[in-house]
Amino acid sequence: MKFICPSMLSANFAKLADEFKEVEIAGADIIHCDVMDGNFVPNISFGQSVIKQVNEMTNLPLDVHLMINEPSRYIKEFAEAGADFISVHYENNYHLNRVINQIKDAGAKAGVVINPATPVFVLENILPFVDFVLLMSVNPGFGGQKFISNTMSKVTGLKKIIAEKNYNCKIQIDGGVDLNNIKELSDAGVDMFVCGASIFGSDNRAEVIKKMKDLIS
Ligand code: DX5
Ligand code: ZN
Repeated sequence: MKFICPSMLSANFAKLADEFKEVEIAGADIIHCDVMDGNFVPNISFGQSVIKQVNEMTNLPLDVHLMINEPSRYIKEFAEAGADFISVHYENNYHLNRVINQIKDAGAKAGVVINPATPVFVLENILPFVDFVLLMSVNPGFGGQKFISNTMSKVTGLKKIIAEKNYNCKIQIDGGVDLNNIKELSDAGVDMFVCGASIFGSDNRAEVIKKMKDLIS
């Protein structure tokens, strides 16, 4: 099973509920929500109170990507606000195993994220405990950036480790995913595709989602 996850960062915030309805009808599976603190990443986006309202606007599961320092302070609140998936970065968590357990204890699926310059091998001792790994294919902070091409070989390497060890862990990709690269990513082993500009930036979201689903099926 593969999942298309439109990223609300690129949606029109003046009519969010309509935006979610449109992609849901078109076949999107999960709404990806980027929480940014202006500290771990240069940009500031939204927090738990917005997630709570988003949860009331859509029936789709919410995938909350935390680009914030000290995420452990907020995990319970995000889970209570309606997050079904919560991911935290490897780069800013000294006690990653503890934070991953905290996410699971709060009742959400737990993911670890690595930035483009972080190699896959650092995940060796957290892979048995996570539900998914998010590979960033752009430097986090902004939508609409260009896909960093060597992420493709990180997908292949990670897929190999997961298969060899038989881990129950999905691979998610985030940044610059579009109709031109989604098939290659899917063939390399990606299960969850985060798409901001390529879906919400299009004037025919339904057609883009349908084409994406055809390419990954
Ligand atoms: C970037 C965010 C992404 C962003 C992706 O820091 O994590 O989720 O919304 O947007 P696109 O698909 O436009 O690169
Ligand atoms: Zn994201």
